[in-house]
Amino acid sequence: MTSSSPFASWLRAQPSLTGTPPELDLDDLPGDPATLFERWIRAAAAAGVAEPHGGTLATADSSGMPDARTLIVKDVSARGWGFAGPRDSAKARQLDESPAAAMNFWWPSITRAVRVRGPVQEASDEESAADLAERSAAARAGLRPGEWVRWWLAPEQVEFWQGATDRRHVRIVYAREGERWSCTIREGEQERGKR
Ligand SMILES: Cc1cc2nc3c(=O)[nH]c(=O)nc-3n(C[C@H](O)[C@H](O)[C@H](O)COP(=O)(O)O)c2cc1C
Repeated sequence: MTSSSPFASWLRAQPSLTGTPPELDLDDLPGDPATLFERWIRAAAAAGVAEPHGGTLATADSSGMPDARTLIVKDVSARGWGFAGPRDSAKARQLDESPAAAMNFWWPSITRAVRVRGPVQEASDEESAADLAERSAAARAGLRPGEWVRWWLAPEQVEFWQGATDRRHVRIVYAREGERWSCTIREGEQERGKR
């Protein structure tokens, strides 16, 4: 066996799951993931999480090579998770080649994370122009309509994860079933129920 490097030891010594999970009533879950996401991100903001709307967007090119970057979620509704960026960007090229993505959010002080995956559609030109118009003057600088795009990630699956100090982490997984959502709850290794 090789001994760990000092850096590996340092990494291992970093504390994780140091936050405090809020009360979670598993008997009071909404029927759709967008509603639960709104509850959780508002709870994160109320608990003092800075920039809770910042997440990671992962895409892949036509060869399957993954890529990921930080961005902000612009809206969440029955249409999906909305995000935006320049037409002239790696993410725009990758989404043209392979129109699907995953988004992750991690809110450390409340030990909650959300994971979203599914196909992505470009919004209408009007919606993209409206998104650009809502940005600050500094953020709009140099960008004309057509050079900025709004996309919608319409998830097939959304996982809500809450860490627990006894490691009985809770996972709530919504999966699209036609017009409806199934919801499976796991606590630790145990499946607690599906509906
Ligand atoms: C907190 C934060 C928020 C960001 N928000 C956005 C965003 O909403 N849209 C965007 O295109 N880039 C945003 N960025 C920049 C991206 O992380 C990335 O550098 C840029 O989009 C280029 O990515 P790409 O070349 O993979 O397309 C943000 C970066 C940070 C750190």
